[in-house]
Amino acid sequence: MRTRPLKVALLGCGVVGSEVARIMTTHADDLAARIGAPVELVGVAVRRPDKVREGIDPDLVTTDATALVKRGDLDVVVEVIGGIEPARALITTAFEHGASVVSANKALIAQDGAALHAAADEHGRDLYYEAAVAGAIPLIRPLRESLAGDKVNRVLGIVNGTTNFILDKMDSTGAGYQEALDEATALGYAEADPTADVEGFDAAAKAAILAGIAFHTRVRLDDVHREGMTEVTAADFASAKEMGCTIKLLAICERAADGASVTARVHPAMIPLGHPLAGVRGAYNAVFVESDAAGQLMFYGPGAGGAPTASAVLGDIVAVCRNRLSGARGPGESAYAALPVSPMGEVVTRYHISLDVADKPGVLAQVATVFAEHGVSIDTVRQQGKDGEASLVVITHRASDAALGGTVEALRKLDTVRGVASIMRVEGE
Ligand code: NDP
Ligand code: HSE
Repeated sequence: MRTRPLKVALLGCGVVGSEVARIMTTHADDLAARIGAPVELVGVAVRRPDKVREGIDPDLVTTDATALVKRGDLDVVVEVIGGIEPARALITTAFEHGASVVSANKALIAQDGAALHAAADEHGRDLYYEAAVAGAIPLIRPLRESLAGDKVNRVLGIVNGTTNFILDKMDSTGAGYQEALDEATALGYAEADPTADVEGFDAAAKAAILAGIAFHTRVRLDDVHREGMTEVTAADFASAKEMGCTIKLLAICERAADGASVTARVHPAMIPLGHPLAGVRGAYNAVFVESDAAGQLMFYGPGAGGAPTASAVLGDIVAVCRNRLSGARGPGESAYAALPVSPMGEVVTRYHISLDVADKPGVLAQVATVFAEHGVSIDTVRQQGKDGEASLVVITHRASDAALGGTVEALRKLDTVRGVASIMRVEGE
């Protein structure tokens, strides 16, 4: 074993970074044996230098992250600051000064992954980010390496722990959205500003990364259709239950049936209770991958939290260090397929539509006509009267999102339709 240590700098020492530092220390001997050389933490960049950080040598702490990545003797820079800047500039500078980079930053990779991969290529270094999608769950490496000889057609999953906790709470206890969010906040799952989670931005970033790797195509954050879960109500859960379903915030990346394009989307959806994703409770994540040869694979585990996320970061550190010692590089960006990303209107799925209508003769026929005029075939209709009005639940066969959108627009114009209470896609059948 080489005795000269590989030098690692840590950018950020919060929830994830503090656990990375702890595991690097407590598992130092095993890591050295697995890598073939010891690994030394030579600097820790933070914002607040005076904060007490258990297990961190205060002499290593600096607020000058730029100077740290410019040292010139670093083997690996671990970026666990988050956000776009200064993380992007620091990673680029790290490559320029000879280091490989491990990051957990899904927002940055989803937005600028292509440019960062190009910078890594230019300087002959590695860029790894297993922790950026679904925390501890190995997903990037299986897609990029284990399935490199297969053809992935679909990636469907729960990739945000906070929203899964909230939806699970609403489903299992009948709690409203705000009540469930408050509990998620109290338990430390949701951040003070939970917007990125509940509005689907976090899941959309992960979907962009997964789709890009799965389909060997650049998929940018803007290419991902995104709907949050703040509008999901207890009534939606009641409707889902009547259908034998529950509601999950899903990230869905699909290759079109003709293979000529792909789509990526994040939105709440009903899924049958018998589907394995329906049983994913609390803040856990799970991702289904469907490919030509392997068939269906499911990846399940903790998708967030300091130690679980640090596990994925450490796996990357080991891989990058091994590459450094052998003079090799890990896989870079694979975007050779360059498939077009189709708009949401072209996505085909089933829908659950809940309407408030006047309870009088001919209304059902009027509503059915609108569906027919837009080419959307109805599977089932359920009506429940309430004081001269009625609640109408329509479940469709598969139709395009554009056709469904046109249907709903026309329904809203009918005098007899008092309101469209909810529209929910039905997946996983
Ligand atoms: P935290 O907010 O807990 O930690 C951020 C760290 O970065 C803090 O140590 C902070 O310093 C430091 N920091 C902030 N700005 C700067 C700066 N300008 N220069 C130097 N240091 C700075 O974030 P997390 O650990 O939760 O997340 C880190 C990354 O990991 C993010 O990209 C996140 O998306 C990703 N991630 C997080 C998961 C989780 O469960 N938390 C799961 C999967 C991925 P200080 O301590 O002084 O405030
Ligand atoms: N906020 C994210 C979640 C953290 O709740 O899943 C992990 O990326």
